[in-house]
Amino acid sequence: MSKCKDKKIYITTPIYYVNDVPHIGHAYTTIIADTIARYSRLVGYDTFFLTGTDEHGQKIEQSAKKKGKSVQEYADEISPKFKNLWDEFDISYDKFIRTTYDYHKKGVKAAFLKMYKKGDIYKGKYEGHYCVSCESFFNERDLLDGGACPDCGKETSIVEEESYFFKLSAYQDRLLEFYKNNPDFILPRSRAKEVINFVEGGLEDLSISRTSFDWGVKLPDELNDPKHVMYVWLDALLNYITALGYENDEKDLMQYWPAKVHIVGKDILRFHAIYWPAFLMSLELPLPSHIAAHGWWTRDGQKMSKSKGNVINPKEVVDTFGLDEFRYFLLREVPFGQDGDFGYKSIISRINNELGNDLGNLLNRIIGMSGKYFDYKLDSSEVKEYCRNLLDEVDIIIDRLPEYLYQMQLNRYLEDIWKILNLANKAIGDFEPWNLMKNNKEKKAMALVAFIANIMSKVMLLLYPVMPHKMDEVSKSLGVAINTDNYIKLIENKELVEEFEIKKVNALFPKIDEKEFFKNLSEKESKKEVKKSQTNLISIEEFFKTEIKVGTIIEAQEIKKSKKLLLLKVDLGEDSPRQIVAGIKEYYSANDLIGKQVCVVANLKPAKIMGYESQGMILAAKDSNGLNLITPESKKENGTKIS
Ligand code: ME8
Ligand code: MG
Repeated sequence: MSKCKDKKIYITTPIYYVNDVPHIGHAYTTIIADTIARYSRLVGYDTFFLTGTDEHGQKIEQSAKKKGKSVQEYADEISPKFKNLWDEFDISYDKFIRTTYDYHKKGVKAAFLKMYKKGDIYKGKYEGHYCVSCESFFNERDLLDGGACPDCGKETSIVEEESYFFKLSAYQDRLLEFYKNNPDFILPRSRAKEVINFVEGGLEDLSISRTSFDWGVKLPDELNDPKHVMYVWLDALLNYITALGYENDEKDLMQYWPAKVHIVGKDILRFHAIYWPAFLMSLELPLPSHIAAHGWWTRDGQKMSKSKGNVINPKEVVDTFGLDEFRYFLLREVPFGQDGDFGYKSIISRINNELGNDLGNLLNRIIGMSGKYFDYKLDSSEVKEYCRNLLDEVDIIIDRLPEYLYQMQLNRYLEDIWKILNLANKAIGDFEPWNLMKNNKEKKAMALVAFIANIMSKVMLLLYPVMPHKMDEVSKSLGVAINTDNYIKLIENKELVEEFEIKKVNALFPKIDEKEFFKNLSEKESKKEVKKSQTNLISIEEFFKTEIKVGTIIEAQEIKKSKKLLLLKVDLGEDSPRQIVAGIKEYYSANDLIGKQVCVVANLKPAKIMGYESQGMILAAKDSNGLNLITPESKKENGTKIS
């Protein structure tokens, strides 16, 4: 893009964990960020757009182990899945960071040392709960019944180890002061309250190192404490400055920091709106302008998860409906900050109506009318004469659009652009150019068609950040380039394109036959089911890796703090009975269980649940009528193998 205005804009997505492949949620965040980045560049701002992957921590280490891979090997396999998908989606990122890169680790260590020397980091002992899935510490009192994580509902584990702490408590007042002075720091504004409440409730110092595993950034050599690795969120958040060369080559840091906006999902707002500003204050760096937290995508009202098998693969959606259609749908469907449900009906309706009728068809009418009446050549000299009021209306709408964009109100941005399109479509009906031509009012007809072509040119520039590829088509048809000069001319200075030479192009958004689509979909889904049941097959050897044995429950007691858990002792015919934690308290009382025979998975790795070691798993079947233990039809000797 030609001219660069003085302003620098730095935009980021979260760096995504490599324990999962990209799904619609990741695509959503990334597409929002891409839209803001493309818009910023079009306006003429010097823009830097960062994305990447978050590769350290216990969760990644566990996922790698499950796959039987080294963690680095595993990360090297998943990280490119994100990068490749973004490339395929033409995401205009300027840098893709991986937290396993050396320059990142170097920057993180330097930041740690700086905070340490300042007195913001001290060594102590951490005792509390940890949710590996959220990579987050919790106090006992914050846990759900049964010890589950208040954020994701999964079991937490107890951590008791030496740890370095960051003096988060010391930043409580400064943070509150900052939120007060920057009411737009958290977007949407309605989300700020929960953050402020949390901080007002009192901040405890944050454990920022672990000793019980080692997949993480080591502490700086100066501390001479090699058994610690850094807490993954400290490491991860710092990516936003290490990517700009913090403590390496700081040229980009000087130019682009502080960030204009960190775009995140609401699940990680707390980390970005509390910890991150506190770290930055400690490092004496300026704070970002906005943390923008969007809502959650669900499928038929339910959380998407691999186990439910209802995860939407963005690649499949794009292959079916098209990339720009998908982008448009995501941004238009839900107000920023609110949750949205993914549904095919809605995406089809938006494509057929808003994109096909209101937008695509308007371009067709320009092509049709300009060809039929004016040999594809349009001249804007009489537009102001005949369409002054309409132009004024359009300009009023256009004036508020940039503000919507940087406030992340992308749905309102799009809604207002559709007001412009509606106005243009209506003008054609009102002017009836076909009658004007019949009645020798060619000048007025020319003014109308040229007015519509001008509106389309402006809309094209405004929609480019959302649908770059389709707008390139529009650009070809109108002969108007998408660049900063034209943005300044047509949008900021409200000028008109003087002359057009219109070219025919294919329909922008061919209609989707809804019935046909759903017919194909159900065929595809049933094929998938068959394939799934075939790929789920295992060999007999694989089955026999699981040792299942009959045993007798000889002791049972309640785990007090838990709604679900009982603590059992089961005799498996071994030297001593097994201790087993079982989630059956809602269905069985402890007393009823004594003497009962059960089937136990006997070769599971022991796990700690609510502080108790569990040395096996009891088999049960659960349906809508409740849960029943699996028990042999008649008594068997303890330790009998099941085959
Ligand atoms: O949290 N709907 O990574 P992550 C909408 N590594 N957005 C969703 C979503 C859904 N159903 N599911 C995921 C992490 N997202 C950390 C971030 S940043 C310094 C470290 C999106 O792989 C949303 O943007 O769990 C959310 O914040 C992000 O994916 C979490 O990705
Ligand atoms: Mg997550």
